[in-house]
Order: sequence, then C-alpha cells, then structure tokens
Amino acid sequence: MARGRFITIEGGEGAGKSTQIGRLAAALRRNGQEVVETREPGGAPGALEIRKLLVEGATDRWDAVSELLLHSAARHDHIVRTIEPALARGAWVVCDRFADSTMAYQGYGHGLPRDTIDSVTRVAVDGCWPDLTLILDAPVDIGLQRAKQRGGGAEDRYERMGSAFHERLRQGFHEIARRDPQRCRLIDATGSPDTVADAIWLAVREPFGLT
Ligand code: TMP
Repeated sequence: MARGRFITIEGGEGAGKSTQIGRLAAALRRNGQEVVETREPGGAPGALEIRKLLVEGATDRWDAVSELLLHSAARHDHIVRTIEPALARGAWVVCDRFADSTMAYQGYGHGLPRDTIDSVTRVAVDGCWPDLTLILDAPVDIGLQRAKQRGGGAEDRYERMGSAFHERLRQGFHEIARRDPQRCRLIDATGSPDTVADAIWLAVREPFGLT
C-alpha cells in the first residue's frame, strides 16, 4: 500500500479554514481517496486535552516557551495516534493547522527565536512533514471580524491577543511561504467560499497530478 499524502491548511483567525477543509476533503473523496480530516491543537484524545489548556483562559496564562512545548506535545501525540497510522494505510490527511502555526504564533507572534522553534519542532514531528501546505491569507481586521461573528465559545484565548500580534503572525505566514515555495502556496482568502475552493483545488491538483 502506497503511503498517503499529508496536506496542511494554515492561516490566521477567521481565514475560513474549516469551510475549505470540508470542501477539499469532499473533492478528494470524489477523486477516490480515503481522507482523514483532522486539526491542531487536537486530533487525538490526549492532544484534545492539551488543546483545552491552550485555547481557553487568560491571554497571559502561559509564557511563550511553555506554549511552544504544549503545542509540540499535542502535535507529537496527534502524529503518533492519528496522522502516521492514516498515512501508513494510504489515506490522505487534511489537517487544520500544523507546525507552521507554531512558527507563526509562537515565533513571529510571541517572538521566540526561529532556532528554538525549529529544534523543538524537529523532535515533535520526527520526520512527519506535510507534502503540501495551503496558507489562507486575509487582512487581520476581516479575519478577526469573521472569527468574532462565528463565536468560538470559550476558545478565544488567541483571538484576544490584540491586532499587533495578529499582524505579526500574518507577516510570519507570508515569510514562511516565501522561505519554502516548494511546499507552501499562499491563497487569497478574501473571495467567496467558491472562489477560494477553486484556488485551493488548483493548488492541490497540480502537484499530485489529480484530474
Ligand atoms: P483554531 O482556532 O484554528 O482551532 O486553533 C486554535 C488556536 O491555537 C489558534 O488561535 C492558533 C493557535 N495555535 C498556536 O498558537 N500554535 C500552534 O502550533 C497551533 C497548532 C495553534
């Protein structure tokens, strides 16, 4: 059985990731693939417990290093329990956020050095790296407004971090895309859901030779 493919969807708050992941997964299924839709932080029982610690409560609940380690622990659990078994049986994994979110949020957002994040991420991912990453890009005010309307219940710790923080991470995602053009595609997420879904399908079809 050939190993599956690993696609990650990244972006700031309210970029429309969940809608687009559902649509991409449906398109891949129509193409005959088994698809596992998953998300970070979360995607496995232990990682979900860690998620609660990260997305709820006061914005200063954790310092940046503790946050990096918690996201990385959740990621390793998610890989071991969910992602690797799916890829090994030939499924395609479509994941809402992955290691680029750590570089954007804990690196560009909170100011942790790139080397620190790279070295922890190397341990956490243990060679499990996406084949393709789609970064959904929208101006911060539009994204935060959408996120507010959606209302994440208690899960708004990062949304409350202020617009300067969110501007830094948007620039961070741009830089991540610039540094790794082979793997990353920056997608304009300001259009209608149909327009964004078309752009995503184009970006996915080409590298994997889908029809
Ligand atoms: P979500 O709202 O997209 O489910 O993600 C939860 C929050 O966690 C989101 O505000 C981004 C943040 N986050 C990080 O800060 N670092 C990470 O590594 C990941 C995966 C998410």
